Amino acid sequence: MTEHKIRLGVNIDHVATIRNARGGVHPDPVKAALLAVQAGADGITAHLREDRRHISDRDIDRLMAELTVPLNLEMAATEEMLGIALNHKPASACIVPEKREELTTEGGLDVVGAYDHLVPFVQRLRDAKISVSLFIDPDEDQIRASKKIGADKVELHTGTYVDRMGTERGAELDRLRRGAALCESLNMEVHAGHGLNYDTVADIAAVPQFTEFNIGHFLVGEAIFIGLKESLYQMRRYMDEGRARCA
Ligand code: PXP
Repeated sequence: MTEHKIRLGVNIDHVATIRNARGGVHPDPVKAALLAVQAGADGITAHLREDRRHISDRDIDRLMAELTVPLNLEMAATEEMLGIALNHKPASACIVPEKREELTTEGGLDVVGAYDHLVPFVQRLRDAKISVSLFIDPDEDQIRASKKIGADKVELHTGTYVDRMGTERGAELDRLRRGAALCESLNMEVHAGHGLNYDTVADIAAVPQFTEFNIGHFLVGEAIFIGLKESLYQMRRYMDEGRARCA
């Protein structure tokens, strides 16, 4: 089997968004997950939101039963989600901030502000042998607090980098570079995700500390034009191209 330097986690939330638009069973996000695995996905990510707007509890049951790769459960730091995670024991849990009114996850988790709430929360997941990731902005204080809290890894939010243009994008890329380097110096694994697409992924892949990307919306959208498998192959090519710059 080919060794991939950066793991690709495929987020299938928006297959469920399309399914739910008609309230039926098609398209099936679990089928999409299995197809993504066939196309080389190293893991599957699903965000069980409080309002269940896309992924459902039943989807999580089925993913746990049918996947042959690790499931990364994205979740808010609530008692309800903790119970679900402890019941299912996915390979990893990525703690994200969540507001009902937002379209998508806007900004990273405030680990500094929610420190006292997160300490026992992270501990209970880790006690259950669930690897814990915190989804944060590339901010020094947030990274240091994540380390102190005992997170196994962090995922740096790439949304601002993707949304900016020109020199502003360059500045945000520098912030991500510094953040990833700080994680390495603290001996903490570092992932990246949010909004990544063909145009933006290579520069992030060229940051050598990143070991995993979680990508969803763009891949599912692109699947309309070229199919899910082909969209993954193409994304992988851009990731490999970026990572090759590190050599
Ligand atoms: N990582 C995290 C923590 C997220 O919340 C999301 C969005 O659900 C993603 C990655 C994937 O983002 P996108 O769907 O924009 O690729």
